Amino acid sequence: MNHPIFLPGATLGVMGGGQLGRMFVQAAQAMGYVTVVLDPDDNSPAGLISHHHISTDYADAKGLSQLMQRCAAITTEFENVPAHALTTLSATLSIAPSAQCVAIAQDRITEKDHLKRSGVPTAPYAVIETVDHLSDVPDNLLPGILKTARLGYDGKGQVRVTTRVELASAWDALNRVPCVLEKMLPLAMECSVIVARAHNGECVHYWPQRNRHRDGILAITQAYYENVPAALAHQAIEATKRIAKELNYVGVLCVEYFVLQEGSPEYAALGALVVNEMAPRPHNSGHYTIDACDVSQFELQVRTLAGLPLVQPRQHSAAVMLNLLGDVWLNASSDAATSSTPPWAKVLALQGVHLHLYGKLQARKGRKMGHLTVTAPTASQAHATALEAARCLGIEAF
Ligand SMILES: Nc1ncnc2c1ncn2[C@@H]1O[C@H](COP(=O)(O)OP(=O)(O)O)[C@@H](O)[C@H]1O
Ligand SMILES: [Mg+2]
Repeated sequence: MNHPIFLPGATLGVMGGGQLGRMFVQAAQAMGYVTVVLDPDDNSPAGLISHHHISTDYADAKGLSQLMQRCAAITTEFENVPAHALTTLSATLSIAPSAQCVAIAQDRITEKDHLKRSGVPTAPYAVIETVDHLSDVPDNLLPGILKTARLGYDGKGQVRVTTRVELASAWDALNRVPCVLEKMLPLAMECSVIVARAHNGECVHYWPQRNRHRDGILAITQAYYENVPAALAHQAIEATKRIAKELNYVGVLCVEYFVLQEGSPEYAALGALVVNEMAPRPHNSGHYTIDACDVSQFELQVRTLAGLPLVQPRQHSAAVMLNLLGDVWLNASSDAATSSTPPWAKVLALQGVHLHLYGKLQARKGRKMGHLTVTAPTASQAHATALEAARCLGIEAF
């Protein structure tokens, strides 16, 4: 089937007005599209800069109907948009990714089923929905991580457990909602792969980037070729394309991977590469593509949504991305309770620094306020400048 093409001048919509929606809007507007954001928050980062902003709840019938009337095609910026709202929209409009793909990614249980179907190893796990499931947990899943099946992000909705007693009380603490218990794996590193897949099945990719988390939140992404051994990188890219194809996915998809420590029993059982989770949208670990690649993940989101041709992105610079959490604003202040403007002029004096702020009005600990990408001709230069920027901003060294 030929998919319609929506050329610049058409109106594109996005469900969700966070920073990912904002960067989608920026890419769409740069290409001449009119944008509509649906988000209940009057001050949402994307709503503030979009041509149109519908401030209703995601499931609000009136809001959805306004969005449908205005837009030629609609995407989503986060996976917790109610899948039934996307199903409503898809009755008359082009939606990418589809409600079905978003629904699968919303739930760790259906997500893991899909990842297994795609033939990519996951961490050994058990589904916990009843008290009986708790007692059925095999010993070899401990120590492990108990994760809520739905609505977890940035390490929220997760508890590390070592014994059965801890497991039972952790499940209680999570209000006995459906969960998965994953075996704790020995990680050598974490990386992610972002692909964009078109209606006709064409699929382009970025090279895997290496991610470092702090307190469950992505802190740093390092994007350069020498990061991930080539054989492993190709394996991860192929696995991601397979996962997208099996879903008949249209849009930008990010898949997070664990690389296991060589010599560990888990490595012997599972191999080097284990899939962690997927995000049916552009991802925080792909923000560097705005400054370090000739086509960003957000432009690819626009292209897949509009039915425009895809092109294989080319990374022209080594890059390090630092997340700017609210802590940076709190650090900049002399007393911990208030926030101050961080020393941007100092940071921007460093070569290759690109500052992205999301327009959030209030800085809070752990809140993603912006990011900074350092681009350089070499990995070591990008790394050195990123360290210097981190020092200026009071971000713990890495
Ligand atoms: N099975 C595991 N073994 C070891 N580390 C893990 C495991 N699961 C999660 N982690 C660590 O916790 C982080 C957050 O877990 P993840 O499932 O990706 O949740 P979130 O949805 O919050 O991103 C991972 O990036 C990784 O550092
Ligand atoms: Mg994750």
